[in-house]
Amino acid sequence: MNSLRFNLNGAWVEETGVSPTTTLLRYLRDRRGLTGTKEGCAEGDCGACSVAVVEQGEDARPVWRAINACLVMLPMLQGKHVVTVEALRSPDGYHPVQLAMSKALGSQCGYCTPGIVMSLFEASYRTDLDAPWKLDDQLCGNLCRCTGYRPIREAAQAVAGSCPEDRFAAQLEASAPQGMALAYEGEGQRFTTPETFEALWDELDAHPDARFVNGGTDLSLEVTKRFALPPKLVSLEGLQALKRIAVVDGVVRVGAGVTISELESFSERRFPSLHRMTRYFAARQIKHRGTVGGNLGNASPIGDLPPALIALGATAVLRSRAGERRLPLEDFFVGYRKTALAPKELLAGVELPLVAPSARAVSYKVSKRRELDISAVAASFFVDVDAQGLVTAARLAFGGMAATPKRASTAERALVGQPWGQAAVEAAARAIAADFTPMSDHRGSAPYRLLVAANLLRGFFEETRHDRQPALRPGHAATVQALVEVAHG
Ligand SMILES: Cc1cc2nc3c(=O)[nH]c(=O)nc-3n(C[C@H](O)[C@H](O)[C@H](O)COP(=O)(O)OP(=O)(O)OC[C@H]3O[C@@H](n4cnc5c(N)ncnc54)[C@H](O)[C@@H]3O)c2cc1C
Ligand code: FES
Ligand code: FES
Repeated sequence: MNSLRFNLNGAWVEETGVSPTTTLLRYLRDRRGLTGTKEGCAEGDCGACSVAVVEQGEDARPVWRAINACLVMLPMLQGKHVVTVEALRSPDGYHPVQLAMSKALGSQCGYCTPGIVMSLFEASYRTDLDAPWKLDDQLCGNLCRCTGYRPIREAAQAVAGSCPEDRFAAQLEASAPQGMALAYEGEGQRFTTPETFEALWDELDAHPDARFVNGGTDLSLEVTKRFALPPKLVSLEGLQALKRIAVVDGVVRVGAGVTISELESFSERRFPSLHRMTRYFAARQIKHRGTVGGNLGNASPIGDLPPALIALGATAVLRSRAGERRLPLEDFFVGYRKTALAPKELLAGVELPLVAPSARAVSYKVSKRRELDISAVAASFFVDVDAQGLVTAARLAFGGMAATPKRASTAERALVGQPWGQAAVEAAARAIAADFTPMSDHRGSAPYRLLVAANLLRGFFEETRHDRQPALRPGHAATVQALVEVAHG
């Protein structure tokens, strides 16, 4: 099909000839005159471009989700419903979120307001934002430089979970999944969305130079910031098999197409250490689009999932027409932004063993800001201890310390076989210097990174002394602050 088709503000639109790397933001503003959706940064940081789309929720029911229009390419919306701020007002008046923002005096210059309203729009149809931190989390991808966040939070509190029974609720019910299958060409660029693996392998045979894309939160930056025009993209978003999380024989398989938001809710009870990392990952709009496959596939040394998954003993599952192969996740990263993937092979997902009750596992992220920031150092630790109190297994995984996500093998050796106590932890913390020669950059100097890494291990010991799997408590800020203080010595 050589046309793009999606539902915009209640009406189906069809487009041909447009470049497939056109972002929704540019399309709305330049081609549709819908300038309510603002451009602040064009890189996912400010939320001024937030719009709402219908996605499949956990129980396969359709849900409204706020996303960044600056990071989504038009073909990624194939068959989907999109709502922009312009559609919120009806002949009967303003939407409840607009009224709440107005009542709370939540807007001054107004530049951020449409984006904030769209994040609140999602919040109004959600029933799970039942704690103050969840409201903050819902808004952490929206910056406002004038108003201050108190009135905006008041508006959020007023509307979250109010579930207005209006035309948007009706639109959800009526928005049966349309299928995303697409083979589109425009302005000399090609974008395909296969819905079966057979179709994917055929596309890769015909176009071996095509690049994978999933949520596009990483790859879109090449378009918006470097003005690149990737000639051939294959979206993996149509492959339902990659979107599943399944537990089989004590192993959890997480598909590469699972979003960070989905991983966050799944991991809350089963993998608290992974859940903690996902809490501090980007912002809500990015987590709704960004995927596990994209986070591992970009092989960034400062990605947050690699250390968390490596520490949990993850296995990478690679798939091609020839079948599947598996390797320890740490071996998936073979160099700076390089993976072990062969041509025409994709990451299908990761497999995680369940965490034994005797094990301790915690993740830490150290960044300049708590919300929506990239790690200077990310660390994830797993230690199993036998009935005698001896360490039987240790996986200490770091991001931001080397050209790839990496385990601290010398430090691990200093722990295994030793009593889990201050002396072994101190020896391991000192050994970290032998494992890494980190770089100095704007996020942190090499000595800072080494000190943080060692202190995080010390903090891990302190935190798990009395509670093997400490989860973030509602007053998480205090916990994080304490850890930052530990990290700074
Ligand atoms: C403002 C902002 C904040 C961010 N904050 C964080 C953060 O806090 N922590 C963090 O870790 N990251 C962060 N990111 C980076 C990014 O959002 C994540 O890495 C996200 O998980 C990428 O997933 P995606 O599906 O959007 O990837 P895409 O952009 O679709 O793809 C990224 C790369 O992975 C490849 N790829 C995708 N899927 C596969 C697959 N199945 N097999 C093989 N290769 C594949 C693509 O070819 C591409 O090279 C941030 C990004 C932005 C813009
Ligand atoms: S324009 Fe800033 S997040 Fe999209
Ligand atoms: S009201 Fe001006 S940026 Fe928020």
